[in-house]
Amino acid sequence: MTPHNEANRGDIKKTVLMPGDPLRAKYIAENFLTDVKQFNAVRNMLGFSGKYKGKELSVMGSGMGIPSIGIYAHELYEKYDVENIIRVGSCGAYNKDLKLFDLVIAMGASSDSNFAHQFNLPGTISAICDFDLLRKAVISAEKLDMNVKVGNVFSSDVFYNNNEDEWKRWEDMGILAVEMESYGLYLTAQKLGKKALTILTVSDSFHMKEQTTPKEREKSFNDMILVALESCLI
Ligand code: ADE
Repeated sequence: MTPHNEANRGDIKKTVLMPGDPLRAKYIAENFLTDVKQFNAVRNMLGFSGKYKGKELSVMGSGMGIPSIGIYAHELYEKYDVENIIRVGSCGAYNKDLKLFDLVIAMGASSDSNFAHQFNLPGTISAICDFDLLRKAVISAEKLDMNVKVGNVFSSDVFYNNNEDEWKRWEDMGILAVEMESYGLYLTAQKLGKKALTILTVSDSFHMKEQTTPKEREKSFNDMILVALESCLI
């Protein structure tokens, strides 16, 4: 047990899919997994273990932002012997070629967060994903015939940014999209010698303000989950 997780060691499998929203973790467990057992409800940060096509894995919410995913990922890796965390989330597109519901895989994460200060490094560390998880996710996306872009994302500390045009400077540096967690996840994995990857679906774009319907959002979420789950079988 930890302050944030009531699971016993062994309840959580080596690979954990992490959506931000705990109700999405429940949705994945109910719609994609068999033999499901709930292992956490502390703070309603729901977590479940089950099987996908016979492969044991877990799914748990991360909450929003780097501090939240930093807590849950640290505990999963360190207290529950988890080896792989695959974040499955949404992002806002900075890159003009990205369309709503395209997939983005975060090879690296840049940030305005000071999460890395704790490591006391005499420079700037790059937060990067695990290459093996990345390779498998790309193979999986290609097999499922999905539009995917792989590159650098921006993990922002703020959703409502006072500097309205700041995103253009990140776009200018080749950043594909903005989300709020990968930088904390990747650095936690790097520190603990574990593996992490983020797969995102584009939910909004900074170039065009388009509305999406709940049905469209559900389909694109399901597509992304399939990419993540199928990558675990490779
Ligand atoms: N996740 C999805 N869209 C986002 C945005 N516009 N900013 C930050 N995180 C996001």
